[in-house]
Amino acid sequence: MLQQYDPRNEHLLIYIDGELYPREEAKISVFDSAVQGGDAVWEGIRVYDGRIFSLDEHLERLQNSAHAMAFREVPSNEEIKAALFKTLQANGMRDETHIRLTLTRGKKITSGMDPRLNQFGPTLIIVAEWKPPVYPPEITLVTSSVRRNSAMSLDSKIHHNNLINNILAKIEANHAGADAGLMLDKDGFVSEANGVNVFCIRKGVVYTPHADSCLPGITRQHVINLCREQGIPIVEKNLSLTEFYTADQVFTTGTMGELTKVAEIDGRAIRSRMEEDLLEQIKGYFRAMTRSGGEPLPF
Ligand SMILES: Cc1ncc(COP(=O)(O)O)c(C=O)c1O
Repeated sequence: MLQQYDPRNEHLLIYIDGELYPREEAKISVFDSAVQGGDAVWEGIRVYDGRIFSLDEHLERLQNSAHAMAFREVPSNEEIKAALFKTLQANGMRDETHIRLTLTRGKKITSGMDPRLNQFGPTLIIVAEWKPPVYPPEITLVTSSVRRNSAMSLDSKIHHNNLINNILAKIEANHAGADAGLMLDKDGFVSEANGVNVFCIRKGVVYTPHADSCLPGITRQHVINLCREQGIPIVEKNLSLTEFYTADQVFTTGTMGELTKVAEIDGRAIRSRMEEDLLEQIKGYFRAMTRSGGEPLPF
């Protein structure tokens, strides 16, 4: 699955540190920490029908990531919200919008890893694009040779811009003709796909890996909560590839593509023996949630 260019995005206005720039003129310094070391944190956020979905959850994860990375002079949630509203209003966006919100450690006085070289405060970048949910109705996965980081090396609780592991997994998936790379944890249990969390359904029970080495996704948490509210059994546990191959249904979750059915993993078709389509039911609950929840836009 390859995203396509949307011509509606030709004249985007991009927010960088308080100013809006046409997309061709939106630039950051070559001394910025994101360029120098991927030293930045980010959120992917969606706008549905005049509301920013799960904004508080995204801002909480961003603030926690920035704090864990010891960023200084981090803008407050109110400042970030004002910047988001300004960007969306300038672009006339109230629906079908995906926002890439990036906070870097900022510009350095000279190249180098040391955060003491960052003496200008962080850089806030907001790229809002016309982008309805991008995944096709069904996707295929292939297991990657690249392991998802454990907390021993780089804690997945930090939503940082060092995405090389995941990008390498995606390259393997591209070579294999699959839509995404399925990443295992250090012990060989399934962790997540390169940009989305994963779930499987077996005999009416929904399972997802512990968020030990995967990103604790906001969509993942919504699905867990929705299952609990609706009385659908949901279990977080270590899950092997075999448990995924032999599941009745497998799906991915993420802000970009919402809930997406997985048709095949490593050439094994996912064959349901259940009469009910539990995934369709959960999708319905999630869709209803996107229609009602979120921060209303003030314009
Ligand atoms: C590695 C990874 N896993 C999962 C997700 C899905 O998380 P969310 O549901 O918060 O969008 C993302 C999204 O940024 C991601 O980068």
